[in-house]
Amino acid sequence: MKKNWKIWDQETKYGDTFFERATGKLPEMESSKAIAKRIKKYVKKNDSILDIGCGGGHYLVSIDKALEVNFSYTGVDATPYYIEKAKEAFCSDNSPRNPYRTSTEFIVGDIFNIPLKDNHSDVVACSNVLLHLPSVEKPIRELIRVSKKYVIIRALIGNTAFRIKHIKEPEKYNEDGEPENFYFFNIYSEKYIAELLGRIQGVKSFSLEKDRDFNPDNIGAKEYRESKKEIPFNVTTIVNGMQINNYIIQPWQFLVIEKKA
Ligand SMILES: C[S@@+](CC[C@H](N)C(=O)[O-])C[C@H]1O[C@@H](n2cnc3c(N)ncnc32)[C@H](O)[C@@H]1O
Repeated sequence: MKKNWKIWDQETKYGDTFFERATGKLPEMESSKAIAKRIKKYVKKNDSILDIGCGGGHYLVSIDKALEVNFSYTGVDATPYYIEKAKEAFCSDNSPRNPYRTSTEFIVGDIFNIPLKDNHSDVVACSNVLLHLPSVEKPIRELIRVSKKYVIIRALIGNTAFRIKHIKEPEKYNEDGEPENFYFFNIYSEKYIAELLGRIQGVKSFSLEKDRDFNPDNIGAKEYRESKKEIPFNVTTIVNGMQINNYIIQPWQFLVIEKKA
């Protein structure tokens, strides 16, 4: 398979935005607050948390705010620049320290082959990552392998599966009309996810929950509404309870997987 979906490697600007979120110059993301709320539900005192596809570690701001029990945190991401920025934000001498956070580490690693032992952490989170991968079976198996108790995933899971390629600029296509500059924005069907989890040993149960926490007003939709200006199509908004961005309905869901003891 062509590896050009690994667009992240070239995108340093995301790392800089993550860093601004990690250091409080930009607000927490809606998904960051939403995952932290769910992590809080499953984390017990002295548990370990693993965040796969952690970017610049910016979700740790929300996790720090949400948790009031001791916990350790490990962030893993495939893009070395993001991990560098995460360490700068959270592991340098002048980084803010949450008294409940007992240890913090960041590692470069690929979700297809996570460089950690089985049952590494009590709770494994993976947010906004699976949709960008060319396939999810191996990544989901890996998330389950490295977790001891729970895996919490935020992903696009709907009634039907769609393979979407988000074409980046400059648009470039090969002679077969295939884009050369893209990342995936895939939607998986609930049926496929259920069938896949049914085939994976060690899964005790799973649940799906629609992301109703997303508030588009926090990312600018309110200003457009109040000024009666048309909301640009690349600003996420809610229509009939569904998140819409770039004219695509995005069925964001939380998939929580419980492992057998
Ligand atoms: C949309 S960002 C999400 C970052 C963060 N979780 C968030 O929600 O803001 C996708 C992240 O997945 C990472 N990523 C992409 N492919 C990966 C892979 N194969 N293994 C691990 N991380 C990967 C990217 O480097 C990027 O940080």
